[in-house]
Amino acid sequence: MKLTILGGGGFRVPLVYGALLADHAEGRVSAVTLYDTDADRLTAVARVLAEQAENVPDAPAVDATTDLDEALRGADFVFSAIRVGGLEGRAADERVALDLGVLGQETVGAGGIAYGLRTVPVAVDLARRIARLAPDAWVINFTNPAGLVTEAMSRHLGDRVIGICDSPVGLGRRIARVLGADPDRARIDYVGLNHLGWVRGLRVDGRDELPRLLADPALLGSFEEGRLFGADWLRSLGAVPNEYLHYYYFNREAVRAYQEAEQTRGAFLREQQEGFYARMKDPAAPALATWDRTRAEREATYMSENREVAGVGERDGSDLESGGYEQVALALMRAVARDERTTLILNVPNRTTLPVLDAEAVIEVPCLVDANGARPLAVDPLPYHAVGLVTAVKAVERAVLEASESGSRATAVKAFALHPLVDSVTVAERLVDGYVEAHPALARLNRP
Ligand code: G6P
Ligand code: MN
Repeated sequence: MKLTILGGGGFRVPLVYGALLADHAEGRVSAVTLYDTDADRLTAVARVLAEQAENVPDAPAVDATTDLDEALRGADFVFSAIRVGGLEGRAADERVALDLGVLGQETVGAGGIAYGLRTVPVAVDLARRIARLAPDAWVINFTNPAGLVTEAMSRHLGDRVIGICDSPVGLGRRIARVLGADPDRARIDYVGLNHLGWVRGLRVDGRDELPRLLADPALLGSFEEGRLFGADWLRSLGAVPNEYLHYYYFNREAVRAYQEAEQTRGAFLREQQEGFYARMKDPAAPALATWDRTRAEREATYMSENREVAGVGERDGSDLESGGYEQVALALMRAVARDERTTLILNVPNRTTLPVLDAEAVIEVPCLVDANGARPLAVDPLPYHAVGLVTAVKAVERAVLEASESGSRATAVKAFALHPLVDSVTVAERLVDGYVEAHPALARLNRP
């Protein structure tokens, strides 16, 4: 089984490789090809993987290339984990938005739209290339904004592309843990778009345990999302939102905190990762230990401004247990490759799951996965407040896809202006000006 990782020089690739190293079952991945546009980053990451593989006799073979076609040929699975414009681009996305008083996060609000406008054309090119060179491969998209990018790729790859995110899985696991339930046996009722979903129930042996959580302030105070949103608000909602909803429900405070922060997240990570990749040029530097230290620091500072707004302090050990991202990818690959039927929360076309959206709209929902791929499970309808956000943001995503295809500036303005976190059409116009100036690639938006 050959796995190709697009963005193979990316910082989180060792997480994936670590999960593969622990898989000794038949039909596992035996060869990994890393593809990246940057050869130095490939060399750095390959060093980390080589140290991870020490003393693992059946470690998957690793090779690295900057030749996309070579990387794709013969792939059974393709992971797409690219970052168009790098962390420099992410920092610029944040800055332009914050200077105009709106959110610049890489997946939510103006920043997410800018990142989407930059990423969609590249993701579409990759999808076309995969469809030609590896038509039977399963494509797992990690690239953010993950729902939007998966939808763009699905227009060329159909159901062969599946988007993943670790947030809903992590949320489900945290809730199961505080309720004393086995996360692998609990049925989590979660639905929405990527970074825009809600846990509305958690069934163990048919019984919904979520009401018990919502009624208990001590339990609510014992995990990340409970502390972030506060017991009162969660009780009012009657659901536990994905952590990214903090940017919506506490938008004013979040924008202010990010404006006042010494550095944006993108600027922090750019510096941190520049340091890591520079260190890897020194042959004497311990690769795995340096990577692991950098990773731990990244995880510990994740969403720190949001936590500051909520007054909740440091993340505790159980919030840091990752196990998410790479485990979801591995579980998905196993289910598909070995026809081991399982349920996973994934980003897939809606079909008839949410009647307010059309069949092609990519949503995030529990899916039944086996050798035929992923099919969404039936869920309860969304309450009106969630319908409002989900349909508004899907309209934004559709405008991003349309602007990416047509190069229409007016459609790009529409994407920003329709977003619930952008409060004026004038601001939307300024955002387009700001982003076109910051990112040469967005000069494409030159049609009326
Ligand atoms: C979560 C999100 C991902 C995001 C990751 C890292 O897992 O679901 O979409 O890529 O955090 O965030 P960071 O701010 O460290 O890049
Ligand atoms: Mn995510």
